[in-house]
Amino acid sequence: MPETAELPDGVVTAVRGARRVLVLTGAGMSAESGIATFRDAQTGLWETFDPGQLATPEAWAADPALVWAWYAWRIRLVRDAEPNPGHRALADLAAHREVAIVTQNIDDLHERAGSQVAAHLHGSLLDLRCAQCGAPFEGLPELPEEPVERVTPASCAGCGGDVRPGVVWFGEVLPEDAVRETEAAIGALGPGDVCLVVGTSGIVFPAAGYPSAAAAQGATVIEVNPVESELSDLCHHVVRGTAAQVLPALVTVLDEG
Ligand code: APR
Repeated sequence: MPETAELPDGVVTAVRGARRVLVLTGAGMSAESGIATFRDAQTGLWETFDPGQLATPEAWAADPALVWAWYAWRIRLVRDAEPNPGHRALADLAAHREVAIVTQNIDDLHERAGSQVAAHLHGSLLDLRCAQCGAPFEGLPELPEEPVERVTPASCAGCGGDVRPGVVWFGEVLPEDAVRETEAAIGALGPGDVCLVVGTSGIVFPAAGYPSAAAAQGATVIEVNPVESELSDLCHHVVRGTAAQVLPALVTVLDEG
């Protein structure tokens, strides 16, 4: 159990005074569940691939079995992973404040920790659909026990097309409902509210633009990240720690009243 972090006074005051908390999470949120962040070196079979090369419609069109093998393995890893204390702290936070979670992550660890997720901006690994007709694929295809280079995608029962992961690939548009829910959550923020930015490098838009939109609403923006990110300079406070260390400490502060 990682020790909880020391919190700067300004952070404690901000969280204590908030009515609403918008939490924007990225891959670092799931790092302590053993899920590699997006820009950490890929491990194993895919270490020679740049994720940006695999997470594209062009890669899928060129070699669906290669792309599906990568996602099937990531589904296996997510299913074998557990929410970490950071995920659980955010679920506990909802007992203290009005919490909205907007995530760039395609895993279901927030949900498995008990949180409601307002938006999965980049889709979800587990929402499989036919790449041809768009029909949802119910359940999960057989997943590899070990990483393998190619796995033939499942076929759509309706049209026989290849079944793809319901994630947003580079060059694809974000789900309309996710953007709408995110904009509504930001619009609901007012002075004295808080926006927690947890575990994101702040490189990919529009997600990277949401913290400044929250600040424009008068919210206090607090970054939780062990290292500096593209967003650090626009945050009112930064807590240099990990999600599993800092978020439980935040909830403890609220528990203490
Ligand atoms: N706790 C908090 N933050 C962490 C932790 C941790 N335990 N470990 C790493 N981080 C931070 C890193 O310092 C980094 O700033 O998490 C961030 C992860 O950054 P990325 O790997 O770039 O992930 P993310 O910001 O979510 O990427 C955004 O890019 O390629 C797209 O769709 C992909 O959703 C992804 C998006």
